[in-house]
Amino acid sequence: MKIAIGADHGGFQMKEMLKEFVCSLGHEVDDTGCFSMDSVDYPGYAKTVSEKVQNRLCASGILICGTGIGMSLVANRFSAVRAALCHDEYTARLSREHNDANILCLGARVIGYGVAQGIVKTWLETDFAGGRHQKRIDQFSD
Ligand code: RB5
Repeated sequence: MKIAIGADHGGFQMKEMLKEFVCSLGHEVDDTGCFSMDSVDYPGYAKTVSEKVQNRLCASGILICGTGIGMSLVANRFSAVRAALCHDEYTARLSREHNDANILCLGARVIGYGVAQGIVKTWLETDFAGGRHQKRIDQFSD
């Protein structure tokens, strides 16, 4: 799977670590920045990853900022995006099974690297359950 990954300065170091981790799981990574710890504004990075997912250039995306909140707020403005801010493996699994989330948001100042890896692995390996959940997803665009 091709995964778009983006971060602001608050998430830069976690992005660098997760990039390697996602590749080690056998996925291709499209790194859309940022590329240093210099202060930047998160909306542009969220937009770039969201557009790649919306336009099906990437199967899904990962966005990281200090809390994950700013990234998730911006990403969910895109009609085809279902961005989920997850702080543990339980919400990561349910965001896929129930919500068919296509962008995972993480807060680099909230969780540690080990937790982030567990969340990412669970999120990438969990399928959407469909059924009654599909009916609910369909209502997003009503
Ligand atoms: C940057 O300081 C911080 O505001 C940003 O990374 C993020 O947490 C915003 O939601």
